[in-house]
Amino acid sequence: MTKVIQIEKDLSVLDEAAEKLASGGLVAFPTETVYGLGANALSAPAVANIFVAKGRPQDNPLIVHISNTDMLSQIVKSVSPAAQKLMDTFWPGPLTIIFEKSDTIPMTVTAGLSTVAVRMPSHPVAQYLIEKSGVPVAAPSANLSGSPSTTRASHVIADLTGRVDYIIDGGACQVGLESTVLDMTGDVPQILRPGGVSLEELQAVLGEVAYEPALKDSRQVPKSPGMKYRHYAPKAELYLVEPQYTDELVKQLAVCRNQGKKTGVLCCGDTQYEADFKIDCGRDAQAYAQALFDALRQMDDLGAEVIFAEIPCDEGGIVPALMNRMLKASGGQVLAEGITTKIERL
Ligand code: TXA
Ligand code: MG
Repeated sequence: MTKVIQIEKDLSVLDEAAEKLASGGLVAFPTETVYGLGANALSAPAVANIFVAKGRPQDNPLIVHISNTDMLSQIVKSVSPAAQKLMDTFWPGPLTIIFEKSDTIPMTVTAGLSTVAVRMPSHPVAQYLIEKSGVPVAAPSANLSGSPSTTRASHVIADLTGRVDYIIDGGACQVGLESTVLDMTGDVPQILRPGGVSLEELQAVLGEVAYEPALKDSRQVPKSPGMKYRHYAPKAELYLVEPQYTDELVKQLAVCRNQGKKTGVLCCGDTQYEADFKIDCGRDAQAYAQALFDALRQMDDLGAEVIFAEIPCDEGGIVPALMNRMLKASGGQVLAEGITTKIERL
């Protein structure tokens, strides 16, 4: 049985879920990025249940969430001065740092790797829950494997009811895309997954920071196992639309109409298209990022068969993360001169 807890002013409504978490249960909770599906990171059987509940491939490691830096000593071997600087600047917040793992963390968490990903979320509900449970919490995004990540409790309820012990409803997530995953175990810090903290922000603190080559070249094997899977995909076919190709979008909508297909458009602003369903995701990339996963799920619920998603015009900041998720969700299908050019763009 899954129990849904609504957040009230007094966070002690979370105490029973925190107790369940500590004793081996599964609890889905809001963070500032997306909802997470948590288990006690020190318990291999509890962590194994996450993989079952999500249908997650066994070779995809989990992020360990903490509420204070004292918890780090049982998770990682050591903290370098550069990693310390990152923690001082970006924690709590949407940055996941990869360290060499300590022996206390079971191999189930790291999928056999000798490194471990750690993050301190800033969402007050996540912080309270972890602190109260008293254990580090292993948590992937709280969606069925392959589906768009969950940014509202209703998404989690749709995907995980009957599969977890508690779902905590803390409203819509603020960032809307997952954290940046940064590998600090090599010579040069490497972004394995772009996210809520941008390349520019990291460079301002660390100096040299690189994107992992596989992010730009799909022929290379990614260092982060999760990046090799098709992800975030709606049930409908999805095509991205470059800002300068809206004429082509109008044409393709007509083609779909003639074929009797139900169409949906994710718009940047209040644009006029003849589609069955339209969702305005906002003109700026940050608003779009917050809206994206919810919009993809809404389109599936509405019964759209083909979705066209306009790409916002902005650059930098959250844009590489947004492009990364949009390209993965669409399988790299982009509308330019006709359907479909595959592009690789970060
Ligand atoms: O914002 C987020 O990061 C959310 C919230 C819940 O914190 N969590 C999240 O977890 O997105 P998940 O499991 O969906 O994505 C974790 C990513 C995967 O791509 C995984 O392969 C990578 O982090 N990862 C985890 N541990 C790693 C490690 N030791 N080395 C390389 N990549 C790792
Ligand atoms: Mg995920």
